[in-house]
Amino acid sequence: MTTDQETMSDRLHVAIIMDGNGRWATERSLPRTAGHHAGVRSLRATVEAAVERQIHTLTLYAFSSDNWQRPQSEVRALMRILAAQLPSQAARCVRQNIRLSIIGRRDRLPDPVLQAVLRAEARTLHCTALHLRLAIDYSARDSLTRAARHVGNNGNGDFLQALMRAYNADSLVPDVDLLIRTGGEQRLSDFLLWECAYAELYFMPDYWPDFDGTKLDTALCAFQKRQRRFGKVPA
Ligand code: FPP
Repeated sequence: MTTDQETMSDRLHVAIIMDGNGRWATERSLPRTAGHHAGVRSLRATVEAAVERQIHTLTLYAFSSDNWQRPQSEVRALMRILAAQLPSQAARCVRQNIRLSIIGRRDRLPDPVLQAVLRAEARTLHCTALHLRLAIDYSARDSLTRAARHVGNNGNGDFLQALMRAYNADSLVPDVDLLIRTGGEQRLSDFLLWECAYAELYFMPDYWPDFDGTKLDTALCAFQKRQRRFGKVPA
């Protein structure tokens, strides 16, 4: 870790749109699901790197609500990967003192995935080194709409609390400092629209299975060179 990184905010929230699994596989004449399996390896490496770099919150976009529209075979494969990987990921999280929680809708998840989510969250609830949040069946617009409806139906309720409920989260939604998207596209794809109000955006051409701690460092170095003004004039 460089001196610059040591002086980085001690409550840094990094969010990542893990894109490019399918193209990574297709370019190797492999089925798209091979790209998702390779993506799991990058996810593990990135989480380990995030702990080493003392990132406070890491939110990863694992399955968007729009992803239900993919071919059923791919959706089933992704759900199988989640159900299979969450228990081992949770065990790894306990060892590394990482709290794992899931944001997004839970009512449409297949039961094995839902059970794996609940167990992973319960096992890691006490962990403090990093808050790893996986966005599964997540749509920012859907969450914002449901939060607004909840506040409207309840008179003058607190919007952020309502948004937290809509995410199925148990803590307030922290703002994103740095949003990374792999895979070359430059869009937000309905991810954390509220929390990204002042996020620094970093787009990289590399496919997600090629992402690792070194690529994370490249993004963090670029982030440190940005001047964040939050609408103010610099002193
Ligand atoms: C985007 O690539 C990636 C996804 C939709 C799935 C990401 C999921 C994982 C990395 C596995 C998650 C596992 C756990 C344990 C949380 P794409 O398929 O859109 O790629 P393309 O743009 O090249 O088609």
